[in-house]
Amino acid sequence: MADNSENVLNHISFIMDGNGRWAKKRLMPREFGHKQGAKKFREIVQYCLHDKGIKYVSVYAFSTENWKRPDGEVKGILNLFVEYMNTCIKENDENKTRVRFLGNRSVFSEEIQAKMAETELVTSKYERTMGICINYGGRDEIVDAVNKLISEGKTHITADDITNNIYTGIMPPPDMIVRTGGEYRLSNYFMWQSAYSELFFTKTLWPDLTKKEVDELIEEYKSRQRNFGGVKNA
Ligand code: FPP
Repeated sequence: MADNSENVLNHISFIMDGNGRWAKKRLMPREFGHKQGAKKFREIVQYCLHDKGIKYVSVYAFSTENWKRPDGEVKGILNLFVEYMNTCIKENDENKTRVRFLGNRSVFSEEIQAKMAETELVTSKYERTMGICINYGGRDEIVDAVNKLISEGKTHITADDITNNIYTGIMPPPDMIVRTGGEYRLSNYFMWQSAYSELFFTKTLWPDLTKKEVDELIEEYKSRQRNFGGVKNA
């Protein structure tokens, strides 16, 4: 195994898949799986940011396609967001985490948008940052960035222009993207940011993910050879 233990890990990202199947296995409604998924999200984010000392964590929580799900399920997920934002606003000194929402928030009610803004404001004093992708679509993100640049009068667009105008903004691109739930695809997640990300796929359903498995994935990350288009051991 290569020793690349100096591989920097600034940003770890999770595609939290498998909540529905986790609930189904227990003969419970899908909403129950998402509730458990939200608990797991808090545990894993806290672990990565504050125990492992990783500066940035992001999660794919709700895609632009997830609106196609039954009303009850969508409402259930939105309620979990609101609950989470309320906790952040009340307990932000405990969480010590800067929260940023990544995605097109214009579709949410004014009340939810205001809560997002308040959550971002009250947590902005912290350095460790968590990005929650909500109503997020990777292709839309790039198209929106390009349209914004055009509307500003740009006629020639560079890669840096796009990097600076996508939702992640100040966040560096993810070094690792972990997808739980046994599917081997990115599903329109971080299309721009994932160019050089190391990808990890585990069959573990999101609510079953353990800190131990996160440790193992990080160990595997450290053993990978990252070339960024260069040559191995140049
Ligand atoms: C994918 O699993 C999961 C989602 C679409 C929702 C993820 C949402 C949460 C974990 C709650 C997030 C809460 C906060 C506060 C960020 P799936 O339902 O597609 O699972 P399946 O593939 O087994 O059906």
